[in-house]
Amino acid sequence: MDDPRLLEFEDLIRVFMESIAHLAIPDIFPWIMYILPGALTGLIFHLDLQKKNIYKFLNYFNKEIEEHRATLDRDCPRDLIDGYLMMMEEKAEDPDNTFSEKDLAILILDLFLAGSESSTITLTWMFYYLATYPEVQQKMQAEIDEVLPKGTLATLEDKLRMPYTEAVIHEILRKSSLAATGVQHVATRDTQLGGYFIPKGTIVMGAQETVHHDPRYWDRPDEFLPERWLDQQGKFTAKKEGFLPFGVGKRSCLGEALARMELFIFSTTVFQSLIFSQPPGKKIDLPYDPKVVFTHNPKIQDVLITIRPGF
Ligand code: HEM
Repeated sequence: MDDPRLLEFEDLIRVFMESIAHLAIPDIFPWIMYILPGALTGLIFHLDLQKKNIYKFLNYFNKEIEEHRATLDRDCPRDLIDGYLMMMEEKAEDPDNTFSEKDLAILILDLFLAGSESSTITLTWMFYYLATYPEVQQKMQAEIDEVLPKGTLATLEDKLRMPYTEAVIHEILRKSSLAATGVQHVATRDTQLGGYFIPKGTIVMGAQETVHHDPRYWDRPDEFLPERWLDQQGKFTAKKEGFLPFGVGKRSCLGEALARMELFIFSTTVFQSLIFSQPPGKKIDLPYDPKVVFTHNPKIQDVLITIRPGF
């Protein structure tokens, strides 16, 4: 936790996430960049700051890549960076080669921003929600105790035997609606949708949060109710319509399977031995942090963590 490289990375992520809020307007209305003078857009949207932050990230990853290169064991690649470096060498003479160190650094940045922050924030939401709803936490812990003997870690096979835990994870994904408006897409042809004409080239964004709280799909949508995901026999039912935390279609989340696995393994491991609760005299504030624009983050706040009796 005190590793200076990790702390540096956490700081880079935090500053980056806060600074991209300035890009919300040109991201949604890109034409604004063409009608305002360049110097003005730079000033309003803090473009220099964005560039500086990206370079800081790329420098950070370049150091990591160099360290990997210096210690690379071709018989025993450790991770994606090692694998990529080996492919880079293999393709060095290929005229169609697209592998490069810059591409690798950007790939790592993409994976960290899309892959690491998203799961971390969703888990943070889970800690805050379950601290606020102790009865839900206790039910989930009772299921964990029943399925996983003390000290045993869950495997994906246990998922089927843990419908309540699955229900909690799905309800967290719905309530948090991490990517509230999804990622911008462009209509590739003229389209008619729900009575609206969408000309080719239009930027289209989802309305994930709105759909996740639409009473046409959800009974008592504002309430945190994991039970809505269970049928009368207590079996988990993966409701599909009105639920799109990972987007839909060809460009839906590439890491969905990994994210689902992470959420299941992390949450069962953590709640098996720990209790999350509101600190004495304090209430956890569940609305989204308004300072973060592109994702729905919780406000960072204190939570009391105690060890479960017997652990
Ligand atoms: C709880 C965790 C996560 C949530 C809620 C989430 C959500 C999303 C959403 C809403 C999109 C946009 C989909 C669209 O455009 O319609 C997306 C895209 C993406 N996600 Fe995730 N994600 C999560 C975890 C991950 C992980 C773990 C990875 C990879 C390690 C990942 C990699 C990506 C990538 C690469 C894209 C872009 C896909 C494309 O444009 O083709 N995500 N994610």
